[in-house]
Amino acid sequence: MPLVGAVAAPHSHLQLFTRPAENEQYKKDVQKGRNAMLALRDQVERANADTILVIHDDHFVNFDFRCYPPFALFVGQEAKGSGVTDPDTIEQITGATYRKYEGKQSFQSAPSGIPQHMANWDNQKPYVYKVNTDLSVRMLKGLLERDFDIPFTSDGTMDGEEVLTTNFLNPKADKKVMLLFTNGYVPPLPWPRRSYKLGQAIREILDEVDDRVLVLATGGMSHYPGTPLYGHVDEEFDKKVLAILASGKGSDLAKFTPDELMNSGNGELVNWVITAGICGDVKCNVLDYIRLWHIGLGYLYWEL
Ligand SMILES: [Fe+2]
Repeated sequence: MPLVGAVAAPHSHLQLFTRPAENEQYKKDVQKGRNAMLALRDQVERANADTILVIHDDHFVNFDFRCYPPFALFVGQEAKGSGVTDPDTIEQITGATYRKYEGKQSFQSAPSGIPQHMANWDNQKPYVYKVNTDLSVRMLKGLLERDFDIPFTSDGTMDGEEVLTTNFLNPKADKKVMLLFTNGYVPPLPWPRRSYKLGQAIREILDEVDDRVLVLATGGMSHYPGTPLYGHVDEEFDKKVLAILASGKGSDLAKFTPDELMNSGNGELVNWVITAGICGDVKCNVLDYIRLWHIGLGYLYWEL
């Protein structure tokens, strides 16, 4: 029983804090999102996985314009990252424990103008996860064998958003992780049909192993970071995607073009399309969809 679960959850850091100017409705919506995340955590616990394959689009932390691979596998021993706010607040909200380094008193936010996940940018990062390296290497070789020329790195870092979703869903860091980085950000994006096929190849490999793997697709849904459209949300497109997944037709996601994803603010759907390829055409249970001012947040799991 190699694939024991699959969930999709946002990685927006606005799930972790609100600002004084935000109104009561907004605060309620943020809380609703946290509740959905905790419901997904129950789902993760029920699956009794020993490894979580985290599929996440890199936010210019591991890659940059010198080389932005469509997909890349992490094959190191440990995955580390900083949160998007201080660890005590994160622990209060998510229950996620963190490593307290001797002599290191704080993991405070980065200075103004610097992305928060760059805070304390050194080797001592508070969130440390064991990697299922054997399976990662097996995955790498298996994908090469199946004609996917997957780049790999042994020096990867979890960005703050990847840490955030993992904080909620693997709070005690008692499950190993595998990290598959994607490009959901820098056009041109990988084609959804290619992403779907990658998922199918990953499933073939998982079907051969004894590890109990749960897939976590992070990100989404519609938002337009770093563009003049920031604040606009294509709710109609989001709802179409959720309806496709709820009706068990995940393979239909493979029919989108990269431009359709970008134009709807759904570049990060790449992660979900790969997961749909892993799971095949099984129905999803959509726990919630929440519109914040700048993003649509979708929470769901595949009914495997
Ligand atoms: Fe993102």
